[in-house]
Amino acid sequence: MSQSYESILLERRGGVAIVTINRPEKRNALNIQTRAEGAAVLDELRADDSVRVAILTGAGDKAFIAGADIAEFADRSALSQREVMLDRSLFNAIDTFPKPIIAMVNGYCLGGGCEVALACDIRVASEKASFGQPEINLGIMPGGGGTQRLTRLVGEGKSMELILTGEIIGLVNHVVPADQLETKTMDIANRIAEKSPIALRLAKEAIRLASRSNLDEGLRREVDLFALCFSSEDKDEGVKAFLEKRKPEFKGK
Ligand code: COA
Repeated sequence: MSQSYESILLERRGGVAIVTINRPEKRNALNIQTRAEGAAVLDELRADDSVRVAILTGAGDKAFIAGADIAEFADRSALSQREVMLDRSLFNAIDTFPKPIIAMVNGYCLGGGCEVALACDIRVASEKASFGQPEINLGIMPGGGGTQRLTRLVGEGKSMELILTGEIIGLVNHVVPADQLETKTMDIANRIAEKSPIALRLAKEAIRLASRSNLDEGLRREVDLFALCFSSEDKDEGVKAFLEKRKPEFKGK
């Protein structure tokens, strides 16, 4: 049973869950309620073994997420804004989500929206998508991981340019015509959803280590995670299926 959410839509298609931020009249800007519900829905999906892959997108045909809700910035003091950010945030919920999560970027992907996409594992965008960190135009800077994740993804030079000028650059794994965005994203999600959830989880953890540890530490922990795969029934099934020339059926055990 799903909880009900006011600003989030949740749809399940096989092993793939599609989470849609649903405030199209505000270009899916993230207010406090949307952030809290977004984190709650990811906690729900994390605990649901039938969900293998999550997709995050925005409602309507204009925006993925147009950033933080700027109206909420108006009267906020430095200290209360800091509290908002240090709370268990949507960014943190995405960052610690143990299953693969794909940003399906259907339009404006700005500020906190760009940071949401950056926190996801894979970004698929339609030709209508545009990316930017326009915080500098409001006299502020990115605060949801933009200076850190963007820099790791595209390098310091490009990150400086995007954050300091607001210029739009490509950050995506795929760009497809708008009418093929869902098909392309579902295709990637379904192909991932067929794999062992255990191997996915450990591989994801290992990949993320690359930008969070030094090479020696990363290589050592990769070996540990690799070895851990050998304790799963899915590994036995994968090897057996290969030798029997059939498709494996992974159970997540
Ligand atoms: N916060 C709060 N409200 C927002 C918003 C945001 N980040 N982005 C859009 N909205 C609201 C607008 O205020 C407007 O509300 P209204 O209808 O009550 O006046 C509504 O969403 C539609 O926006 P509008 O600007 O008319 O749509 P558009 O399609 O012409 O342009 C954007 C869309 C995203 C380019 C433009 O709204 C924009 O620049 N938004 C701010 C982006 C930003 O700076 N994000 C970083 C925040 S830190």
